[in-house]
Amino acid sequence: VVVERDASRTAVVVGQGRAVAHERLAVGRFSDPTAMGMLRDDERVVVERVRAAAPPAGWRDRMDFELVRACGEVMAPRTVAIDDAVRDRPNAQVVILGAGLDGRAWRMAELADVVVYEVDRPASQQDKRDRVGDLRPVAKSVHFVPVNFGKDDLASTLAAAGHDAHSPTTWIWEGVVPYLTRRQVATTVRMIGDLSAPGSRLVVNYQAPAFTAAAGRLAMRAFATIARRVSPLSGEPNRSSWTPRAMAQMLDRAGFSVIRGRDLFTIAGELSMDVHQSRSLRSGCVAVAERL
Ligand SMILES: C[S@@+](CC[C@H](N)C(=O)[O-])C[C@H]1O[C@@H](n2cnc3c(N)ncnc32)[C@H](O)[C@@H]1O
Repeated sequence: VVVERDASRTAVVVGQGRAVAHERLAVGRFSDPTAMGMLRDDERVVVERVRAAAPPAGWRDRMDFELVRACGEVMAPRTVAIDDAVRDRPNAQVVILGAGLDGRAWRMAELADVVVYEVDRPASQQDKRDRVGDLRPVAKSVHFVPVNFGKDDLASTLAAAGHDAHSPTTWIWEGVVPYLTRRQVATTVRMIGDLSAPGSRLVVNYQAPAFTAAAGRLAMRAFATIARRVSPLSGEPNRSSWTPRAMAQMLDRAGFSVIRGRDLFTIAGELSMDVHQSRSLRSGCVAVAERL
């Protein structure tokens, strides 16, 4: 059962992954100077250890170290693929679905004339706002829109925040689909379709079915139980995976055509990254779809 009142912990882990990757992985193509600043002091300790390649002695701390290290390797190609897709179709509004600690509105100069809407569960969003503090966005403006996919109505809350469904939108849906049921994903895609004028773009990151990824998560939970720690993944279990074909068909039904689809392993190769997590990189996918 997802504890609705708590802020997302997976959002912190991926933020730690970006802070690990910054100026260390895919240098020249990946950069996220906002990531470290959004972490709390205790969350930075493990990041600094990974950056210094100094694994801790105790095996409990070693578990956190390995999780964050692995996450850095996933975040670099994932971020680059999504940033590129946002840059090469400039739309005046960007909606980030399940924004977590996404730093784009604070770091992407290309968003200077763009209105950004950050959609997230209320608890996660409040946590993000506390972390951002008075850091000034580089985007034209940022609007926080509290929505729980599957429960709240995305259309009316976005409209109330100022989103214009009659002009094109770029939608970013990164690291969220796995936490939603197939039904919640399909419902949200339909809603996105209804709010997308021609010229809109949907950039979606999802997991393809992979036994090894599922086994990895089970192992992580088992280790956490033995270590008497709450796994960062325990409140946000994996609920859906999609083959690229099933994802393309669902997007097609909502009026989007996939123009580019790649897995993170391929993207990491294009970035000449030296990878250790080839299995989890192969099951992570980014699709770029357009509404004609
Ligand atoms: C792994 S984090 C990814 C955050 C961010 N997109 C990134 O890639 O850094 C998952 C995010 O999805 C959000 N999320 C999960 N289930 C959700 C739901 N039912 N409705 C709205 N947001 C949800 C969480 O609050 C969290 O911010």
